[in-house]
Amino acid sequence: MIPAYQRIADDIAGLIHSGRIAAGSRLPSVRELAAQRNVSIATAVGALRALEFRELVEARPRSGYFARLPRLTTPEPPISRPPARMRSVKVSDIIAQMFSAASTRAPDAVPLGAAFPDPELLPTQSLQRATARLARTTPRLISGYGTLEGSLRLRRWIVARYLRSSTAIDVSELLITNGGMEALQLALHAVCAPGDAVAVESPCYFGFLQLLETLNLKACEIPTHPRSGLSVEALERVLTSPTGRTIKACLLCPTHSNPLGATMPDADKAALVELCRRRNVALIEDDLYGELQYTERRPLPLRHFDPHGEVMLVSAFSKTLAPGARVGFIAAGKHTERVRALKFAASVSTAPLMQEALADVLDGSLYDRHLRRLRAACEQQVQQAMRCILESFPDGTRIVQPSGGFLLWVQLPEGADTLDLYRRAATEGVEFAPGPLFSSRGAFGDSLRLNCGHRITPRIEGAFRRLGKLARTA
Ligand SMILES: Cc1ncc(COP(=O)(O)O)c(C=O)c1O
Repeated sequence: MIPAYQRIADDIAGLIHSGRIAAGSRLPSVRELAAQRNVSIATAVGALRALEFRELVEARPRSGYFARLPRLTTPEPPISRPPARMRSVKVSDIIAQMFSAASTRAPDAVPLGAAFPDPELLPTQSLQRATARLARTTPRLISGYGTLEGSLRLRRWIVARYLRSSTAIDVSELLITNGGMEALQLALHAVCAPGDAVAVESPCYFGFLQLLETLNLKACEIPTHPRSGLSVEALERVLTSPTGRTIKACLLCPTHSNPLGATMPDADKAALVELCRRRNVALIEDDLYGELQYTERRPLPLRHFDPHGEVMLVSAFSKTLAPGARVGFIAAGKHTERVRALKFAASVSTAPLMQEALADVLDGSLYDRHLRRLRAACEQQVQQAMRCILESFPDGTRIVQPSGGFLLWVQLPEGADTLDLYRRAATEGVEFAPGPLFSSRGAFGDSLRLNCGHRITPRIEGAFRRLGKLARTA
């Protein structure tokens, strides 16, 4: 006989799957459920726990249980197995080709390539108003230089924000930068010299590879699981090998990574911090997608596990608020003095008007409300895109279920060539990011990254399906 709690859970699961209980809506409280179903409190708790285990509801502290979007089950790509080798990087030609093709593309091309959210999902009007008001009332934000470290108001906001995730940053170690890219470059430059090697995920964000190339650093790709991210064990093996000594830094995106959407479990994050400390390897954390989780709780940053300020934490407002503002930051910990000197030489300061406008918008409850909407939209768009892919891509296609963010990593059946697919899709007005962009060794030729930051209109859905059709005729 099916226990009562299981029957109730199955019943509610059916309502969530059919959409009759919408994702994000509040479920009855334990007491209400017990009264509605005429069961004990323990049975009602059991039912809600069973739903939580199936990831169909989430418990929010002091607010109750909320329905989640049912997850599709799809086969996923295996953990990557790159050879433990330090390689010079050469990706800028291929990236330049892609971007120049993108800039001359038909105006109606569907942008599934670059990683950015739908502009309609961003609170641009609030930022416009703040910028216009500040430009009028505080002209020195235009007529003067900003400070080297950037807006104190914005830095204090960042410190308070990370404290919410029990992560301590000191305002004096924070520097505002021109987007996340400048922060990453400063971090690498501060701890590496030409010829050094840097451990990266495999696959990793192609911007990391561009930076390694321009700074004349070698890449060492580390096996990476599509959902739990970089393998700490594999990194340890490389670091203890004879060539491991040339690795001076580990650069990674441990939370909702680009391109996989993987998040390292807390235990792995703690182990990684400890390993890098023991081996004297600088750790650079890219946290750009850190607040785009699909669950209520934001995953902890690596920095949370580091009481000594060894981890250099980098992030930006490009994926959540305003890519065009070009505002990012670095908490440089014990490398602060070196990073300050490098920042001064690189760009003197970051445009103060945008920093203050952002600080205005962030001050208050708008940002949290906005993030709640953005996260829900991202999760829904990703699920819709997965559905389109499952229906229209060739049999044997594998998809990674991201833990947050708006990127989908897709592996086509063996033998597929996504660089060729890229060229054919471009002639049909569809863009995406081919897999080899994300590897120092041109690997992942059968894979691609799709941006699901855009609302799935019939036009976007049509683009996913056109891509699927082209992939079938490879
Ligand atoms: C993981 C990651 N880091 C850094 C960046 C660059 O950020 P920004 O646009 O703020 O320079 C991106 C942009 O796509 C990214 O995906």
